[in-house]
Amino acid sequence: MFEVNVGIIQVAYIIATILFILALGGLSNQETARRGNWYGIIGMTIALVATIIGPVEQNYQYLILALLVGGSIGILLAKRVQMTQMPELVAILHSLVGLAAVAVGFANFMDPGRLSHYMGVELTIHDIETYLGILIGAVTFSGSIIAFGKLSGRIGGSPLTLPGRHWLNLLLLLGAIWFGREFVIQSAAGAGIQPLIIMTVIALLFGIHMVMAIGGADMPVVVSMLNSYSGWAASATGFMLGNDLLIVTGALVGSSGAILSYIMCRAMNRKFIAVIAGGFGTGGGTAAASGAAEDQGEVVPVDAQETAELLSNAKEVMIIPGYGMAVAQAQHTVFEITKALRAKGVNVRFGIHPVAGRMPGHMNVLLAEAKVPYDIVFEMDEINEDFPKVDVSVVIGANDIVNPSALTDPNSPIAGMPVLECWKGETSIVLKRSMATGYAGVQNPLFFLENTRMLFGDAKTTLDEVLKAL
Ligand code: TAP
Repeated sequence: MFEVNVGIIQVAYIIATILFILALGGLSNQETARRGNWYGIIGMTIALVATIIGPVEQNYQYLILALLVGGSIGILLAKRVQMTQMPELVAILHSLVGLAAVAVGFANFMDPGRLSHYMGVELTIHDIETYLGILIGAVTFSGSIIAFGKLSGRIGGSPLTLPGRHWLNLLLLLGAIWFGREFVIQSAAGAGIQPLIIMTVIALLFGIHMVMAIGGADMPVVVSMLNSYSGWAASATGFMLGNDLLIVTGALVGSSGAILSYIMCRAMNRKFIAVIAGGFGTGGGTAAASGAAEDQGEVVPVDAQETAELLSNAKEVMIIPGYGMAVAQAQHTVFEITKALRAKGVNVRFGIHPVAGRMPGHMNVLLAEAKVPYDIVFEMDEINEDFPKVDVSVVIGANDIVNPSALTDPNSPIAGMPVLECWKGETSIVLKRSMATGYAGVQNPLFFLENTRMLFGDAKTTLDEVLKAL
């Protein structure tokens, strides 16, 4: 339909690539994140337009229909999704990238012109690209669906430990390699669909088994790992289609996801291989679904009035937000309280754990939405040593990230994970609704310490009362 110079398409692709790199750079910092998003949006628009008027040569009606359907579903989902459901949405979107790679792979293989386009070594290379694209795509697809189930509480968080599971994984891997060889041999003779289908089933089973074996406490790593896989799946699709932009974009997503997985592993003091091998974390799935508290002694409840007094009399206050702040949508009230305290001369800071909430940067996004200034928001590593000088720590709907047993109990599912050591300060006030456990399903000895006070109730409601009392 369109006659466009190939050079113009290449220039558009290069501009889109540069914009994607700028987008990733922008997203690494709160102050530049908004700009980063815009770079990404503009880059993707350029990429889409260039692809529609460039490489696509026919069947525009289907393309436009698919764009309309996909775009409408995307807009609807983005408008409807709650901040607390973001990780599930991300997981299910990853699954679609995997599914697309599988679909493109099969379509590519079934293309009648395939054997006339490629011959000899070129055909072998093209077949390997197709095989790998479908393999990574299928693992990403089924793994992301299980991750979606676990994050949304539809599937329990406990790791599935089948007998001889490492051998099973090895068997699946060897099966995939063997059928790959069969596929390449048969493909040259015009056949090969059978080994391709068998490998797809193997890859789907592998994806399910891999994520099922990972416990609730390690889910942050899984989310970023599937993010990375979806990138590599897209990149493999780029090789299949001979599309440079898709190769580069996929590689950017794949490598940034891999770096994020590494950062997550470091934050949780886990070895990547150990996470993939699975089995950690008792994983109650969701906080509400988790079991009742073990009896560790008495807790000391406080009310909003007492909390306001403790805060007003403090010089140094540390606010530690967690998943419960997202559930309660309490971030705006938190900032109102921060302003009120700062007006009284109290130094208020925020301490952010790298896996607080349910997705990387979850707390930073909420605080940015409430317009909390960035210069009072600190990463765990920056402020953990300051707790002995803190008068009051306010733990808002956080649990696992302030659990001292991570440091003291080697049998804990979160053993070894660095945590915010608020108990070293003078007083900690914990805001939550009940004595239920957090995401990892373990009881928190912090609640029973002498210098801890519990402010029970929905965080938004109790913080509104604290603000009134201030
Ligand atoms: P959690 O350990 O899950 O604790 C959240 C706490 O918030 C719960 O104890 C819950 O207690 C309380 N809560 C829930 N709704 C509330 C409300 N409306 N008002 C007041 N409190 C409320 O969260 P965390 O400390 O942020 O730790 C994060 C956990 O999630 C870690 O285990 C991490 O590994 C895991 N995880 C993180 C990610 C990423 S990438 N960040 C991804 C997947 C999993 P009540 O029910 O008693 O109120």
